[in-house]
Amino acid sequence: MERPAPGEVRMSQAVQPAHGSPRGELSAGQLLKWIDAAACLAAEKHAGVSCVTASVDDIQFEETARVGQIITIKAKVTRAFSTSMEISIRVTVQDMCTDVEKLVSVAFCTFVAKPVGKEKIQLKPVILLTEQDRVEHNLASERRKVRLQHEDTFKTLMKESNKFSDSICDEEEGVVSTRGTSVQSIELVLPPHANHHGNTFGGQIMAWMETVATISASRLCRVHPLLKSVDMFKFRGPSTVGDRLVFNAVVNNTFQTCVEVGVRVEAFDCQEWSEGRGRHINSAFLIYNAINDKQELVIFPKIKPMSKDDFRRYRGAKARKRIRLGRKYVISHKEEVPLCVHWDISNQVTLSNGNVEALKNLAAKSGWEVTSAMEKIKIYTLEEHDILSIWVEKHVERPAHLAYHLLSDFTKRPLWDPHYVSCEVIDWVGEDDQIYHITCPIVNGDKLKDLVVLVSRRRPLKDGNTYAVAVQSVILPSVPPSSQHIRSEIICAGFLIHAIDSSSCTVSYFNQISASISPYFAGNLGGWSKSIEETAASCIQFIENAPDGGLISIC
Ligand code: COA
Ligand code: ADP
Repeated sequence: MERPAPGEVRMSQAVQPAHGSPRGELSAGQLLKWIDAAACLAAEKHAGVSCVTASVDDIQFEETARVGQIITIKAKVTRAFSTSMEISIRVTVQDMCTDVEKLVSVAFCTFVAKPVGKEKIQLKPVILLTEQDRVEHNLASERRKVRLQHEDTFKTLMKESNKFSDSICDEEEGVVSTRGTSVQSIELVLPPHANHHGNTFGGQIMAWMETVATISASRLCRVHPLLKSVDMFKFRGPSTVGDRLVFNAVVNNTFQTCVEVGVRVEAFDCQEWSEGRGRHINSAFLIYNAINDKQELVIFPKIKPMSKDDFRRYRGAKARKRIRLGRKYVISHKEEVPLCVHWDISNQVTLSNGNVEALKNLAAKSGWEVTSAMEKIKIYTLEEHDILSIWVEKHVERPAHLAYHLLSDFTKRPLWDPHYVSCEVIDWVGEDDQIYHITCPIVNGDKLKDLVVLVSRRRPLKDGNTYAVAVQSVILPSVPPSSQHIRSEIICAGFLIHAIDSSSCTVSYFNQISASISPYFAGNLGGWSKSIEETAASCIQFIENAPDGGLISIC
């Protein structure tokens, strides 16, 4: 194994039966404790004074470790701000017998330097040695913005969610109340739970929260739930040795194969305990899956909120899901997996039909959920096995054939879509298939992006009323990636246009989001940008303001 990088703290742990769940898997609470401990040691190595956990960003667990395997945690300060610093954590699991190593999680947390006494210290900057250090250093300030805006973003989404009604139907079959999932538990903070200044370890609190949340989730699943992710949470105030911590948990909402459990923690010192007046130190939201005895994901029943609190938490869970989606796909910084299809003229018909079929299949999937709704624009998302897709539905007061004519000519796209700088035809394959070279603007300080795509269009079949314009990246040897652009990829995207009557239509835009284009969508999904709605409004305006002339030659 390679040597630790300068500034990096490495922790290796053999997973013992005492760390395991009843299924023989490493308990998530234990892992959270180790993550917090390793991150704290990295923070203190940089700060030279003791540090406390201020917040932990969303954590997703990609892999489950089992008793007998080895966990390795690498923690490193990516950027020091003033008194706080961001620590990146990478957790892997290694099988002793096969030596195979898998990624469990990549996480980011913030620690604040807390020297003894009241004074604050100014942290020294991190020395950047590699290109990767510089990339992470730049991304750290993006992540900080998102973190510090978290509460405001949540409030905005909650306000917005008041505007469109949740389809909660009392009469619907199979809806359940969450009453039976309520759990309360108490812990006394002892010296082993705290650092040498007597401050309770953040990881210990997270582990206790996870235990209570797991009990709550199991009351809905009736099997052992598996923790999939922990929402971003912050430590609002300190707790110390001698505090009594009261944990309250309940299921807030379910999303097909996931359930969100919320936990609130209040701390009481001896006097506060006798007066019944606690300090709210933390609230966290944990997402679980469950697997049945056939090793399939359990589909959870829909939730029926009963009280005012239940309703608020039900809607809160939806807003958090939206923020999580946005953050997951901006900040996770996933590597692109090339899926591009080689363009082959002899296979043109198959490629073109495959392009249109892929778009229609994406549209026909079940599980699309509304994430935002305005008068003429509705946005849906679909998350399937870590693949996120988006559907933007627009109501347009012009005939479907006009919308089809305008939207299938990609040279016009820069006129209404600010995500397209230029768009030129590089191969006119046929009446219904063209290959375009597209350039896109800079996001997050990167280089310009470019794409080579096949656009395939279809008019409705006899008796049908749906026009299709499908888009997919292709590899064309005559247009190789250049040094001026980052070559991006569209896996499956396009428009389906349905005629409503002779003068209006619905234009649905679909996109299965790849890593390289996720920055264009993530802010929107996360609730801190309105770019999708703005682009959709611009598209509607473009179609509605277009002159009718010129259509005759095409249609
Ligand atoms: N996420 C990330 N950083 C945060 C944050 C959050 N949610 N809230 C505050 N911070 C950062 C601020 O940006 C600031 O950083 P900077 O100095 O580099 O700009 C730093 O924390 C201090 O912020 P400040 O506004 O001066 O203090 P505060 O009154 O908001 O207190 C804590 C922040 C974290 C120190 C305070 O809430 C606390 O003591 N929490 C409990 C920490 C603890 O004991 N954890 C262990 C488990 S109980
Ligand atoms: P909110 O109630 O607005 O979500 P809180 O910080 O008060 O915010 O609580 C966080 C979560 O903790 C709640 O969403 C809920 O899941 C859980 N919770 C809070 N109070 C209780 C309680 N009295 N009993 C059971 N669970 C609770």
